[in-house]
Order: sequence, then C-alpha cells, then structure tokens
Amino acid sequence: MIKIAPSILSADFVNLERDIQMVSSADYLHVDVMDGAFVPNITIGVPVVQSIRKCTSMFLDVHLMIDKPVRYVEAFAKAGADMLSIHLEADHPTRIAEALKVMGDCGVKKAVALRPITSPRAVLPYIDELDMVLVMTVEPGFGGQAFMESQLDTIRQVRALLERYNPACELEVDGGIAPKTAPLVIEAGANVLVAGSAVYGAKDIPAAIAALRGPE
Ligand code: DX5
Ligand code: ZN
Repeated sequence: MIKIAPSILSADFVNLERDIQMVSSADYLHVDVMDGAFVPNITIGVPVVQSIRKCTSMFLDVHLMIDKPVRYVEAFAKAGADMLSIHLEADHPTRIAEALKVMGDCGVKKAVALRPITSPRAVLPYIDELDMVLVMTVEPGFGGQAFMESQLDTIRQVRALLERYNPACELEVDGGIAPKTAPLVIEAGANVLVAGSAVYGAKDIPAAIAALRGPE
C-alpha cells in the first residue's frame, strides 16, 4: 500500500492546527526539523512537535535535518514523534548507531535519510534494524524544489537492498513529489511519499492526497 506523508513545511504556521486537520486523510504527518547548520534553513524545534502531538493523533514522521542528531533524538521522542529520520551524513557512523540505539530505547521507529550524493550502500551497516529508509529526491533544505530524476536509480538500489536484507522496511521519498513524479518513484520502489507543495498548494487537498496515492 502506498502511504502519503504531507509535509507541514508548506502549511501556514499561524494556522497549523487547521492545516494539520486538512490532511487527516493522509497516512503520516511529515515534520521537517532544520537547524541552519546541516541545511541552510531553520524551521521547527522540540516545543512545536510537542504542540503538534497535542492536536493530532496522526503518525508523526519527524525528519531531522540537523547535525549530530544523537544530541536530540530523546527530546524529539519525548515530544511525541512516532518515527525519527536521521541523516547518515550528519555524524560519524558510531554516533549514527548510537542515535539509532537511543531511538530503540525510547520506543520510536527508526529511519535513516540519504542526501542525493550519498550511496545507497551507506544504509548497509544499519539495515537490519531500520523501519524506514528516506531517499531525498531534492537537496534537503527547502520545499517546492524540482524533483531530481537521477534519484530514481538510488530508489531502485535501496529497494533492492531492502528486498534482500529487510523486506519489511519502508522506503520513503521526499522532495518534488507531485502527480507527475509519484508514479515514477512508486515504480522505482518507494512506498511512502512525502509531499509539501503538491498537497498544500492544491485546491482540493483530500483529492490531491488520493491522486498521489494512485489507483489501488
Ligand atoms: C525538504 C523537506 C521536504 C519538503 C518537501 O528538505 O525535507 O519534506 O517539505 O517539499 P515539496 O514536496 O514541496 O518538495
Ligand atoms: Zn522532509
């Protein structure tokens, strides 16, 4: 089944509760945390995730675009995240492993994220224990960017590794997902689609979510 994860980066932050309710027919709520260091943008922090947790029962898929994420995984888990994605480029492998362990201790689902430059094989040291791999289809940092078609091959390669080592693991894609690109990433092996502008820019949001999910 294809899951849709609207990104609240494209929501109106003054009306965040209203905008979260607007996407309640989706599967996950994607929350983009940026620190101004790992990426050149600053967005949402722990207190906002805490407030979001109070106003929705949706599954909170929290994408940490921050340096040395091990410093913050416990805080975001306690704030109410259901799953945390940490970037493989954001720290040394031992500290990535440590962050995943803390996630397990806190009872949140574990995901690793790959910038477009990162090799699919970088997931291998952690693959057994992951609940999801997030393949970026734009450079992380901003919503509304153009989909990078070259990432279709990365999606295919990650899917092949998952089939071999961890078939239950989900494969999420993030960046430039729209009605035209959704079928391409699904065909390449993605099963969770993040969409910011394609959802919040649509006149009929539930219809946009259903369209991205495709026929089933
Ligand atoms: C970008 C973020 C994305 C972003 C996607 O760094 O991780 O989640 O909100 O936005 P769209 O769907 O507009 O490309
Ligand atoms: Zn994201």
